[in-house]
Amino acid sequence: MTSSGSKVHNSVDSSMINRVHFCLQLTRKVTGQNSSFLLPASMDLYDVWNHINVRTALLGFTLFTILFWVFRRPRNLPPGPRGWPLLGYLPQLAMIKGPIHEALGDLSHRYGSLVSFSVANQLIVVLQDYDVMKEAFAQHELSGRPRLEISQITLPGYGVLSASGEPWVELRRFSVTTLRGLGVGKSSFEEHITTETKCLMEEIRKTKGEILNPKHVVENAVSNVICSVIFGRRFEYTDTKFKRLLGVLSKMFELIGAGGVVQFVPIFAKMQFLPIVKELIHTNISFDEILYQLLYSRNVDQGELDFNEDPRDFAGAFMKEMDDKEKQGVQTYLTPASMHYTFGDLFGAGTETTSTTLRWTLLFMVGYPEIQTRVQKDIDRVVGRNRLPRLSDKPELPYVEAVISEVQRLGNIAPLGVPHKCTEDTTLRGYHIPKGALIVANMWCVHSDPSEWPNPSEFRPERFLDEDGKLVRREKLIPFGIGRRVCLGEQLARMELYIIFTCLMHQFTFRTPEGAEPVAFKACHGITHAPAPFEICANPRDN
Ligand code: HEM
Repeated sequence: MTSSGSKVHNSVDSSMINRVHFCLQLTRKVTGQNSSFLLPASMDLYDVWNHINVRTALLGFTLFTILFWVFRRPRNLPPGPRGWPLLGYLPQLAMIKGPIHEALGDLSHRYGSLVSFSVANQLIVVLQDYDVMKEAFAQHELSGRPRLEISQITLPGYGVLSASGEPWVELRRFSVTTLRGLGVGKSSFEEHITTETKCLMEEIRKTKGEILNPKHVVENAVSNVICSVIFGRRFEYTDTKFKRLLGVLSKMFELIGAGGVVQFVPIFAKMQFLPIVKELIHTNISFDEILYQLLYSRNVDQGELDFNEDPRDFAGAFMKEMDDKEKQGVQTYLTPASMHYTFGDLFGAGTETTSTTLRWTLLFMVGYPEIQTRVQKDIDRVVGRNRLPRLSDKPELPYVEAVISEVQRLGNIAPLGVPHKCTEDTTLRGYHIPKGALIVANMWCVHSDPSEWPNPSEFRPERFLDEDGKLVRREKLIPFGIGRRVCLGEQLARMELYIIFTCLMHQFTFRTPEGAEPVAFKACHGITHAPAPFEICANPRDN
């Protein structure tokens, strides 16, 4: 043993020994061990290594036990991949090259329809099929929302989309009742949408069949519908401030998608040196500023609000309700901050989602000209060429509805929905879901399940028709989500999609520009699944 020890001693140079001694001194300093632990000068290196090994092993074991205890998986969580200490599954998520919803969907092959993992100590539970979503989102414990941490830096507060508990109940009830009171979703509202659609068609007609990127005009039209509801006004397609607001909104949706986790995990919001966090803060500030200016410009354009009058728009109704509650001394969650956020929520959710769906619709019509022709023939047969399509024509246009449904299924514009938060410990399918867990509904999985939609990647509107060509409502088409937090603009969005799409098909034929590549149906992956920028030509149809 001694000889082998000497052998080792001989083969190690003195600087190595110095380093070993230095490490030992350091360990002593750190552990506060007294001088009796000092190695006698005569001790040979083998013993030194022995010492280090035993102590390193002890230290390592203690460290491992502490880390294991801190980052242990609590019992009975839904199954899922284990991650790294501290970072959890973040490194694996960061390595994903393709769409994140598809990568999360792949986890279901191994772990089933309920998967959990953590990201920087934040537990995330992913729901991967329709039945589990239906069961989960019927529970009020799973119907909270996580805080958008970065917006809390720029303006503390919440609107209807991000509130939880009692504030959400009051904001949602107020929003739904007020929108209904303003006629939204009822046939009386049709006129507003048709008027805006005529402006959109005028804008498209100006291109005289030349190349057009439809993003801005479609967004402006859809946004004007929601702006007329909230602020009682519309904006010209050339209005530069409004153009900026739409640009900032698109950027915000793109960034939230790119750094979705960053938005919801508190620790990231504090890392303001990260470029994505910086950009998110900057975009949030710009959005708030422009929205604020637009909101308060109403007083110049329309005169001060008269609280005795019936409010003409959502903003007026909100201010009146706040004023009434204050006069009555009633406690309320309708505050200036929740008002500002609720306008932002309605404006953002009402613009981006519907206009993205319409852009997918145009792209599918250009990519499948035979389907476009069949839609146009159906509309001409029912509506004729002397007037524009109306809501009352809808029951006679099942194929048109089938096309819109198939676009919503395959376009999958909110593939991971909007995250929910667990507000109280609960159970789902026998698994423990702890308070604070983030709940993500993978709607992409529901819309591409081959047992429900054979050949799910094919665009086939016929899926929504029966043998007699009548429309079949499919329970598992859930673009607006399900449960207690289902989209509150669903009725408005359905009206807009139908009226704008049928009017465009009635007045134009869309095609790819001369010599362009065939349509690729490529997508950008933000929080919404939007088509990558594309160009088309709109040929006016002869009357
Ligand atoms: C095609 C268009 C639309 C789609 C696909 C869509 C989709 C969705 C989805 C998936 C959610 C989340 C549901 C959940 O949390 O489980 C949602 C929530 C919401 N949507 Fe929409 N939406 C659309 C249009 C609109 C419009 C036009 C408005 C404006 C009136 C709107 C306002 C909202 C609001 C305020 C929420 C939050 C509701 C809450 O948290 O209680 N959406 N939407």
